Amino acid sequence: MQSKIQVGVLGATGMVGQHFVRFLEGHPWFELAWLGASDRSAGKKYREATVWRLEGSMPDRVAELTVEECKPGNAPKLVFSAMDASVATEIERAFADCGHMVVSNSRNHRMEADVPLLVPEINPDHLKLVPLQREKRGWKGGIVTNPNCSTIALTMGLAPLVKFGIEKVLVTTMQAVSGAGYPGVASMDILGNVIPYIGSEEEKMECETQKILGTLNGGSVTPLPAAVSAHCNRVASVDGHLVAISVALRDKAGIESVRRAFDEFDPLPQRLNLPSAPKPAVLYMEDKDRPQPRRDALRGNGMTVTVGRLRECPVLDYKFLSLGHNTIRGAAGAAVLNAELMRSEGLI
Ligand SMILES: NC(=O)c1ccc[n+]([C@@H]2O[C@H](COP(=O)([O-])OP(=O)(O)OC[C@H]3O[C@@H](n4cnc5c(N)ncnc54)[C@H](OP(=O)(O)O)[C@@H]3O)[C@@H](O)[C@H]2O)c1
Repeated sequence: MQSKIQVGVLGATGMVGQHFVRFLEGHPWFELAWLGASDRSAGKKYREATVWRLEGSMPDRVAELTVEECKPGNAPKLVFSAMDASVATEIERAFADCGHMVVSNSRNHRMEADVPLLVPEINPDHLKLVPLQREKRGWKGGIVTNPNCSTIALTMGLAPLVKFGIEKVLVTTMQAVSGAGYPGVASMDILGNVIPYIGSEEEKMECETQKILGTLNGGSVTPLPAAVSAHCNRVASVDGHLVAISVALRDKAGIESVRRAFDEFDPLPQRLNLPSAPKPAVLYMEDKDRPQPRRDALRGNGMTVTVGRLRECPVLDYKFLSLGHNTIRGAAGAAVLNAELMRSEGLI
């Protein structure tokens, strides 16, 4: 690639926006050239508008960029979106209408029939919805989304088993506090405690999983016809959502075949050598007490999903654990990998 593609971030001052800024620093294909946020931040230098909450310091070059209002026009063609969900619907649509490709982390458009809910390792063909989206809505650009942070740990854990036919899924999450943004859950509520409720999370996990693992039929996705039941809990880990999965499979594969399926999983982004595609995409750990959020969430630059503890399940067929970094694999890194796939497919 000759020169880097300029990109922007909508909602650059927020928690996920900061993860985009950090994740894009030194990216071989993309150069962060434009930052957008609310009118509270517009007109200020990024360093003045942002309270940097990530480890390490704000990248110097980005610190000097001036934040702009999230209005289409001056922004680069490719924008990542990390805007507050209360404003993302209309602003993302306005950018798409004006010819921008919006690669969004917000939940707003994920379940719309003509919007890809993309995980490049699982459903790269769902990108075929983009031309149909343009035709239907009269947009010159488009919107592509990535899943919720807990859904990514579930779907990436299940992806190697899709070939056996997934019939039922029961999942219980242990979700890190960083998933609630900043300042998130009050320390008095979460320290020494578990909160067995995260608003709308169970519904999102269930329907997003069926869409991601669904089949593209002409102009829409037929959801995976599998029952998915989620229990979502907030726990006192900082980063990394750990999910305990039980699964019923149509083909009654032996445990060795199921175990091997994790090692044999070799999806498209890894074969294409996309810059943010971790190798491996899914790592099976043999240790009987892994994966653990503190020890394993940052594997593969936060992009590898780690699984372990595969065993037979007396209720469904098999059970195991899956761990994904919620703000990297479940947010900024997921969107950047989506854009890399879009670039390699000629959509950008
Ligand atoms: N936190 C997570 O781990 C996580 C994970 C996955 C997905 N998400 C999703 O990602 C999105 C961002 O989450 P967050 O935790 O980063 O939120 P946040 O820290 O509250 O940041 C929100 C961002 O939206 C901007 N914004 C607010 N009102 C705006 C407006 N009217 N026009 C343009 N920009 C506006 C804010 O700009 P100002 O600074 O100028 O107000 C800020 O940059 C949400 O949709 C959330 O559901 C979050």
